Amino acid sequence: MSRRSVFHTWILASVSPVALLPLNPDELLSTTRAVRKRLDFDKPVPDELIRECVSLAMQSPSGSNSMTMQFIIVKDEAKRKAIGAVYRECFSQYQAMDGVYIRTIDKGDAVLNQQQQRSADSADYLGDHMGDAPVLVIPCNVGGRTEAAGGLGMMASSVMANILPAMWSFMLAARARGMGTAWTTVHLMMEQQVADILGIPFDTVQQVCLSPLAFTKGTDFKAAIRPDAETIIHWDKW
Ligand SMILES: Cc1cc2nc3c(=O)[nH]c(=O)nc-3n(C[C@H](O)[C@H](O)[C@H](O)COP(=O)(O)O)c2cc1C
Repeated sequence: MSRRSVFHTWILASVSPVALLPLNPDELLSTTRAVRKRLDFDKPVPDELIRECVSLAMQSPSGSNSMTMQFIIVKDEAKRKAIGAVYRECFSQYQAMDGVYIRTIDKGDAVLNQQQQRSADSADYLGDHMGDAPVLVIPCNVGGRTEAAGGLGMMASSVMANILPAMWSFMLAARARGMGTAWTTVHLMMEQQVADILGIPFDTVQQVCLSPLAFTKGTDFKAAIRPDAETIIHWDKW
């Protein structure tokens, strides 16, 4: 049997440990939020669900069809706590960055500023609790680092784009299965420390983010307020 039909057989025949949420594609795309306070730290996540999310993520594009994306799934408690401590340290440095830290960004609108402060409360919470999530996910790209791209936009973009779409697919697949994730990057200030905890060869494997993975408390998430599409589209010219 070809690899393709093996995958199709698997996806059709697999009996997922959970039923998919009744979300149409637009609902899935518009309600996959950064989940932090509503992560259920006490409910274990079955390995089979993680495999499903990774298998679906593998359907994302990759440069030259190279498929250099890798997912590090951290379940070991001691390692989660160690990564959580690195995250906490980086998060406290980020909190001191005026104009970068989420709480210090003025949206110029009372409603949006209120939403921003709620997001900041949620981000602060994760700053203290990253290591409490039952699973941590670190998507990586293998084969070289953006720093080695020598300022070449094409090379740096390719390193990133070989893994970023895959991770977003992973997050969508997780949401469809009742789980929450949150894209975070502050630990990359101390990427080497996390590489050392997990035995990642730093020079050839680049981490691109860190996400908790857990079932969510409730599954009702809303679309966020976003700028109107027309304000960011450039028709035919910048
Ligand atoms: C590049 C990037 C970096 C981010 N870094 C962090 C982070 O370090 N910590 C965190 O709590 N959230 C982080 N976020 C999540 C954003 O705060 C979140 O996506 C944003 O507030 C919008 O919220 P929503 O995704 O729920 O709509 C990051 C998101 C992106 C795309």
